[in-house]
Amino acid sequence: MFSDDRRHFLQQTGRVGLACSANLVLGRFLSAQAQTSNANQTARIFIDCRRTVATLDRNLFGSFLEHLGRAIYEGIYDPGSKLSDSNGFRKDVLEEVRKLGVPIIRYPGGNFVSGYNWLDGVGPKQDRPRVHDKAWNSMNSNQFGTNEFMAWCKAAGAEPLMGLNLGTGTPEQAAALVEYCNVDKGTEWSELRRKHGFPEPYNVRHWCLGNEMDGPWQIGHMPATEYGLKAQDSARQMRYVDPSLQLIACGSSGPFMPTYLEWDREVLEQCYDYVDGLSLHRYFGNTPEDTGGDSEKFVALNLTMDRQIAETLAVCDLVRGHKRSPKKLWLSFDEWNVWYRERSGSAVNGHRQEAPHLLEEVYNLEDALLVGGLIITLLRNADRVKLACLAQMINVIAPIMTNGTGLFRQTIYHPYNWALQYARGSVLNLLVQSPTYEVSHMDPVPYLDAAGTLNPENGQISLFLLNRDLSKAREVEIVWEDSPATRVVTSLVLTGNDLKAVNSFDAPQRVQPQALDKPSTSGGRTKFELPPRSYTVIQWQS
Ligand code: AHR
Repeated sequence: MFSDDRRHFLQQTGRVGLACSANLVLGRFLSAQAQTSNANQTARIFIDCRRTVATLDRNLFGSFLEHLGRAIYEGIYDPGSKLSDSNGFRKDVLEEVRKLGVPIIRYPGGNFVSGYNWLDGVGPKQDRPRVHDKAWNSMNSNQFGTNEFMAWCKAAGAEPLMGLNLGTGTPEQAAALVEYCNVDKGTEWSELRRKHGFPEPYNVRHWCLGNEMDGPWQIGHMPATEYGLKAQDSARQMRYVDPSLQLIACGSSGPFMPTYLEWDREVLEQCYDYVDGLSLHRYFGNTPEDTGGDSEKFVALNLTMDRQIAETLAVCDLVRGHKRSPKKLWLSFDEWNVWYRERSGSAVNGHRQEAPHLLEEVYNLEDALLVGGLIITLLRNADRVKLACLAQMINVIAPIMTNGTGLFRQTIYHPYNWALQYARGSVLNLLVQSPTYEVSHMDPVPYLDAAGTLNPENGQISLFLLNRDLSKAREVEIVWEDSPATRVVTSLVLTGNDLKAVNSFDAPQRVQPQALDKPSTSGGRTKFELPPRSYTVIQWQS
């Protein structure tokens, strides 16, 4: 059975991951980082507000909702619940997502999308078929589909990032969905939308041309050249319908893939001229294979994400060179997170149930620290990574968990929330000097990792700081190279004694942000201590 194949592949790749991640050493980020002698134990961050990486695209902190487990049904949509509104949308969940300010949300998959017929999810609800989703061996009632998602996004204040079925689906069906969503009237599919009760077009801008098409677990998986041609044809047909689209081709599912980078090159040789971005995916784990269970190594794994970004960009730019193209692609890191516990057996097999409990990973403090590190990595690559999605958002490998009576925030909610609240404006090009430590199969790892933003509109500067030292506080000195920021507006830290501590419905605030003493500045320098095993945000008003 297909889903068995996928589970088998994931198990195998867990093992392959050992060899790959064992070889991962630090890449491009070292240009912005400098190691300092371990004799000098103070870490330093040099900030010059004239030195920036890029203007931050808010889509860097998007998220993801797949028809998987309890993400949609029982997650955001639960018409039987007293917590839901007249549309069946969970009001408490909507409120959380609105408060977060998630800019863009990928939907409807994931692996799910590669067998999905979007026509099953539109039109009168009583006529929609109950369909077997082969990707997760689950039943989909189709009571929530494209129009419900658009309404939900509007209520949540988020832009949709629509995934297309390029597995069993055809380029013609992809273009039809664009027409259904974006054409005002007068064509077959726009008139169908109107008939369904939605007179206004949605003008969906961002589209993913399939999902993880390099993976043998993917429905409709095909060789790279074939996929590249299908993506090209889809892009052409979709742009005949709406020339304003931003299109993302499927890159490699991760460095563990045997075809890593070669897939990307072959795909882009076919469709470079027709797309705007290329996708990357990555899930991290503190597994015997990847880290040997060593948490010091685990919290350094965001450095391997820097490398993945650098390598993928190298391929994009290689093909750009082959084509003598004036266009530079951007990257869409449209699935990233920690995920390693709930990824086999019944955690990934819905046993033909509706809304089964799948991928309900419980996150601890060390996961939140790594998620903070991954956000730092995304920020420092903001010149070329323009879109990214924390995978996923509700119940499924998610920062927010629901049950029939409410919700709670997992540990990873906090670094994600800080990115959304405090990262604004331009990303600063920081010079970070830090003492380092040794872990197996990686270059020396800096104890301190950091990224920062400057909002030119209000002069606010935000710093995001990861202290990877799991046993000791670390002294940090900020050297303000142009004008020093003095007034601290916010200073929060996520830390604790137990790296394995988790939140739950019974103890929802076991791991939560605490106030950090506001650091003071004198003589153009700010000195403060970061607690051991901590992730911190400090915001100044300059
Ligand atoms: O996010 C969970 C799954 O991980 C997605 O469906 C798939 O794209 C990836 O393998």
